[in-house]
Amino acid sequence: MSDETQDVIRLVERYSAPNYAPLPVAVAAAEGAWVTDVEGRRYVDMLSSYSALNFGHRHPALVKAAKDQLDRLTLTSRAFHNDQVGPFLRDLAELCGKDMVLPMNSGAEGVETAIKTARKWGYDVKGVAPERAKIITCAGNFHGRTTTIVSFSTDPKARQGFGPLTPGFVTVPFGDADALAAAFDNDVVAFLVEPIQGEAGVIVPPDGYLRAARELCTENGALLVADEIQSGLGRAGYTFACEHEGVEPDVYILGKALGGGITPLSAVVANTDVLGVLTPGTHGSTFGGNPLACAIGREVVRILQTGELQERSRKLGEHMLTTLRDASLPAVKEVRGRGLWAGVELVPDAVPARAHCERLLERGVLAKDTHETTIRLAPPLVISEEDLDWALERILGVLEEAR
Ligand SMILES: Cc1ncc(COP(=O)(O)O)c(C=O)c1O
Repeated sequence: MSDETQDVIRLVERYSAPNYAPLPVAVAAAEGAWVTDVEGRRYVDMLSSYSALNFGHRHPALVKAAKDQLDRLTLTSRAFHNDQVGPFLRDLAELCGKDMVLPMNSGAEGVETAIKTARKWGYDVKGVAPERAKIITCAGNFHGRTTTIVSFSTDPKARQGFGPLTPGFVTVPFGDADALAAAFDNDVVAFLVEPIQGEAGVIVPPDGYLRAARELCTENGALLVADEIQSGLGRAGYTFACEHEGVEPDVYILGKALGGGITPLSAVVANTDVLGVLTPGTHGSTFGGNPLACAIGREVVRILQTGELQERSRKLGEHMLTTLRDASLPAVKEVRGRGLWAGVELVPDAVPARAHCERLLERGVLAKDTHETTIRLAPPLVISEEDLDWALERILGVLEEAR
């Protein structure tokens, strides 16, 4: 490691709250699927900032939209209208096939917004008795880091030391439709689910699970709330991962790639009977719907409207998953995924996933471990087949040496 990298790391370690353990690389520039560190070394980005960079680093149309907007207007707050928010909300609502949108900033804020909306809908529309609303969530979920969201995390690290926790959540195993059916009662206002669990290690539910969830929510008068923050916007091969089962949730939560890898932008998208329960003063955010984010978000929607990147995600994703599976490596227990998104789970006695990622770093590939045993791969959807193969060759090489 050079002095430049060490200087960056030393400064961060001195002044940053110790809530992250980054890999020892200091990125200074990036374009498309490639990043360059402070030493001038280049790497293929096989993480895409957890899918926030679905369109690659500094996508020209997104950078242009941002620059044009920076020269005109950046922030109004929602105290006033601005000329960017309406077109963005309309275009996003149309992309989702829904009536309306509530724009926020981070993904966690989007999830919080959906929880508040579902509870309010439960009291105002479903007629649940005050303070009784319940939301069903899944074991292994990851929906963000706020106090309420960690209250229904099943990861002890996320919860412990942060109580008192928020009540009103019920946990069921992910992928088990019978357990889900048994969890409903009249107080349940929503089932909150990641169509594919990302942080848990790219866990794809059994076929028919999302369809069963859709039917159960309809039968029980509860909202199906799909957290597509990581799985959506092309990552899993379609605009929404729910499309794999032809399922339309009542509520989409979007984030990450919605901001084009430039700015935080999240949104809750639903029909008027759901989002219409909110009234002025019940929810909001100073930066939610800011003109800069909306100008970028509108360009993101425009990119997705053609369907080209979704198709590319399916095609290159098939290639990536097949390549990883066909190698039948002894260190690999399972390769899961959909679209250009894979979780490579290692056998229990293999070198830890983190050590694999450190070796990949030395060979010019950025990837990230999750839960000690899984390497997750999510390259930008704009990656060329050649660059993907370059990265896969190195990944297979590191996996081969693992045992
Ligand atoms: C499915 C899902 N929901 C919510 C979040 C939280 O998003 P943010 O980190 O922007 O708050 C994440 C982040 O990884 C996520 O993967």
